[in-house]
Amino acid sequence: MSDLPTVLITGASSGLGAIYADRFAKRGHDLILAARDVARLDALADRLRSETGVAVEVIRADLTDGADIGVLETRLREDDRIGVLLNNAGTAIGGFYGSADGPSIESLITLNVTAASRLAIAAAQTWSQRAAGGSIVNISSVVAFIPDSPLGLYSATKAFVQSLSQGLNGAFGDKGVYVQAVMPAATRTEIWERGGIHPDSIPGMMLADDLVDAALVGFDRRELVTLPSLSDADLWDAYETARQALIPSIRNAEPAGRYRT
Ligand SMILES: NC(=O)c1ccc[n+]([C@@H]2O[C@H](COP(=O)([O-])OP(=O)(O)OC[C@H]3O[C@@H](n4cnc5c(N)ncnc54)[C@H](OP(=O)(O)O)[C@@H]3O)[C@@H](O)[C@H]2O)c1
Repeated sequence: MSDLPTVLITGASSGLGAIYADRFAKRGHDLILAARDVARLDALADRLRSETGVAVEVIRADLTDGADIGVLETRLREDDRIGVLLNNAGTAIGGFYGSADGPSIESLITLNVTAASRLAIAAAQTWSQRAAGGSIVNISSVVAFIPDSPLGLYSATKAFVQSLSQGLNGAFGDKGVYVQAVMPAATRTEIWERGGIHPDSIPGMMLADDLVDAALVGFDRRELVTLPSLSDADLWDAYETARQALIPSIRNAEPAGRYRT
């Protein structure tokens, strides 16, 4: 058993989650891997145990199911070996506004928003009460900044995840809980084909290994928002400065002059 904090990764059966599992195992962390496809999780767990010697536990969880979310939530509250949560499971299925229906909307929001919120809040509440603190990595997306992207409702869920991350930083950042929002641009994983989009139709896809390695540089630097595809970091600073400048001006007891009749 490792002395380092155990890392709980949702959506570890493929894509970014599986690569994060590889990287944290190589750093010497024990792992808890969650997703629906247990055969893939078991295969990854076997490889990581034999290559790195870390302990790896597999949990089958469908994070559109409230009871399964509750299992991981309870684990985060009760297992004091866990010190890193990677809130990574996500889908773009059901994102198109033209074809979304009740069940697809509910499924998308439960996985991308409700599960991510319940797990992050359980971890932050628990870890802010203990000396060792903890780290939460929330996988958002650059489409959080592009609400009118064709990915539609998916973009809205990722804006939520970014807002959640900044909010958790405000509430728990000074209590030993580090929260990172990772905002990938298009990255070559299964998410595209699962969502019915051929990855070759998207120009300039990042490789998933490069994305995770860059995001981990941001993690090690304790960045609050990590934008691996953004070369000009000044653009993000200008965006944040403009957002901060808006805040004092939107607190006003009187309607603005242009809304008075
Ligand atoms: N790839 C990109 O271009 C890109 C860009 C920006 C953000 N992201 C975000 O990156 C994260 C990881 O996605 P990825 O690109 O690595 O795609 P991926 O390869 O499709 O991985 C998605 C993971 O989520 C799990 N998952 C899906 N539905 C689930 C459910 N109902 N319950 C539990 N787990 C579920 C999948 O496992 P099972 O099927 O085994 O359950 C899989 O492990 C997502 O949050 C995604 O929104 C990706």
